Amino acid sequence: MLRISQPIATARLILRPFASADLDDVWAYQKLPEVAHHMLWPARTRDQSERAVDQMVTEDALAGEGDCLSLAVVWPDVGRVVGQVELVWLSQEHRQGELGYVFNPRYRGRGLATEAAAEMLRLGFGELDLHRIVGRCSAQNSASARLLERLGMRREAHFIHNVRLKGEWKEELVYAMLQQEWRST
Ligand SMILES: CC(C)(COP(=O)(O)OP(=O)(O)OC[C@H]1O[C@@H](n2cnc3c(N)ncnc32)[C@H](O)[C@@H]1OP(=O)(O)O)[C@@H](O)C(=O)NCCC(=O)NCCS
Repeated sequence: MLRISQPIATARLILRPFASADLDDVWAYQKLPEVAHHMLWPARTRDQSERAVDQMVTEDALAGEGDCLSLAVVWPDVGRVVGQVELVWLSQEHRQGELGYVFNPRYRGRGLATEAAAEMLRLGFGELDLHRIVGRCSAQNSASARLLERLGMRREAHFIHNVRLKGEWKEELVYAMLQQEWRST
């Protein structure tokens, strides 16, 4: 069981559960086609982002398999939510999790997404005692693949046409890290 009841401070960021008031900041990036391009969802309307935020507001804990922890990433330098990170509890028996992240392009290229994602690895390995965490991305999503590599994750798979997304067959990369690897980095 992992519940986030207090904001978490990293070197430059605050990670905290979502609030309804985050809608403007979240829609600012979820509405962008360039952001949605590699996601399962299309560029969102404000109503769609409102529903997404309402859902993320409830995702403040990992109580059991299948749960998703979604955290708003606040960069105090700009006083806004600059992105979102998530950790899904894939399997309790096998102690597996999956990492996810989406950032506003205005705030990219500074290592902020890597910093927030590294904190999610700490929560998953250090607090929830997961054995293995995976990160998946489209093979065309080089920024995401580089982020997973910066975290020290290993590329385990390159699937060809395993997903049909937005009318096209996609290639998918799977990265992973074990708790023992995380502890030795
Ligand atoms: C994936 C995504 C979060 C990556 O964003 P990003 O800005 O590249 O990631 P970071 O914030 O960690 O910044 C890393 C970049 O900043 C640079 N950087 C600058 N200062 C840095 C620092 N202090 N620490 C680390 N990197 C730093 C890095 O070199 C890197 O640039 P490079 O990739 O050109 O080498 C972003 O592209 C995104 O939100 N995409 C849309 C949604 C998406 O694809 N989500 C993932 C689905 S699988």
